Amino acid sequence: MDLSTAARDVQIRAYAPYSNFRVGAALRTDKGKVFQGVNVENVAYPEGTCAEAGAIAAMIAGGDTRIVEVYVIADSSTPVPPCGGCRQKLAEFADGDVRVTMASKEGVELVMTVAELLPGAFGTSHLEGC
Ligand code: THU
Repeated sequence: MDLSTAARDVQIRAYAPYSNFRVGAALRTDKGKVFQGVNVENVAYPEGTCAEAGAIAAMIAGGDTRIVEVYVIADSSTPVPPCGGCRQKLAEFADGDVRVTMASKEGVELVMTVAELLPGAFGTSHLEGC
């Protein structure tokens, strides 16, 4: 399945009544499966979750753990990069060279790798000796 289509298809189901900023995310795993997620907001604002986090949760629930490609689309005139927390979440399950395509609502795309989005990432090597 085309990740762009998967992200667009799911974006319309985003639950974003407070920001009105709908985000759709789709990722492909090393097993070839595609998982989707949307942002889910909450009246207690900090309780909301991002689209990328939703897609990762769906992937884990679906039994896969390694991401090989990511696509994110948002209600924005410019491509919206993942927030800091989502960069860290993606880095947990994706190698640094995995491509993250960010798309605007008009379809303008920006591609960056996970390592470009999160240089010097905190990782398992930092836990050595603990
Ligand atoms: N949002 C995402 O879903 N992904 C991001 O990486 C950036 C922000 C959502 C969170 C919130 O529901 C809305 O966009 C506005 O910040």
